[in-house]
Amino acid sequence: MSSHPEATKKLLTSDLQKMKDEGKKISMITAYSYPQGLIVDEAGIDIILVGDSLGMVELGYADTVPVTMDEMLSHIKPVVRAVKRAHIVGDMPFMSYNISVEQAVTNAGILYKDGGCDSVKFEGGVEFVPQAEAIVKAGIPFFGHIGLTPQTAAMLGGFKVQGKSIDAAKKVVDDAVALEEAGAFALILEAIPQQLAQIITEKVKIPTIGIGGGVHCDGQVLVLHDMVGLFKRFTPKFVKVYTDMYTAQLNAVKEFISDVQTEAFPAKEHSFNMKADMVEELRKVIG
Ligand code: KIV
Repeated sequence: MSSHPEATKKLLTSDLQKMKDEGKKISMITAYSYPQGLIVDEAGIDIILVGDSLGMVELGYADTVPVTMDEMLSHIKPVVRAVKRAHIVGDMPFMSYNISVEQAVTNAGILYKDGGCDSVKFEGGVEFVPQAEAIVKAGIPFFGHIGLTPQTAAMLGGFKVQGKSIDAAKKVVDDAVALEEAGAFALILEAIPQQLAQIITEKVKIPTIGIGGGVHCDGQVLVLHDMVGLFKRFTPKFVKVYTDMYTAQLNAVKEFISDVQTEAFPAKEHSFNMKADMVEELRKVIG
């Protein structure tokens, strides 16, 4: 059976392009599980990224570097099963595309074909144009990711805003143009000055989605766990925290523990009954 059961209702890359052309802002968020997929799709999000950020927010790694293809696949598949409308992007983990064009196409194919996502994304600009071109040539929609690239943050001096000098800003523009020419259908612009993001958004025809890229991007993306308060280790400046689900869940579990200890739970409405005469008979039968 196809992993794209309701493909005709899904947002296509052409729908996303139309949104940019018509000046409609694009919303994008991460999701890593079946319930998260259900929630963000029901909310009406346009794009879901099954990001390698799952390594930090779901799997407890220090960063995204250790994430494997198998881990990506096992999180992409339940999201695909949950989602009816949003376009789903599968993230290519570190070292699944960095070595060669052949490796990149093979692994993009695994996420797209076996995982069932609608496109794939990897981090990097000019230096990865051959990989981007080959993925597109193979028939797989490709989403670029430039600016701060967390998988290679160690090479960028840590998790820092990128493109702050003229040379560095020019490099980000060059990356954007090169990926557009390679066939990318959209770009994530991460942690760059908003003025630079605006220049790129005006220069390229494809949609730009900012995460720490300012309001002039064609759309915005956040990591779900950051914006619902489920990831407490650190909160980047560009995150708006909408709710505190960590504390809500913590308090619910604390209340449950207390209810168990005080026998406030289970109450009558959570319990099943046997008629009194049957109980009596049963007691006799078992002695
Ligand atoms: O993996 C991820 O969640 C990402 C976002 C930071 C855009 O790449």
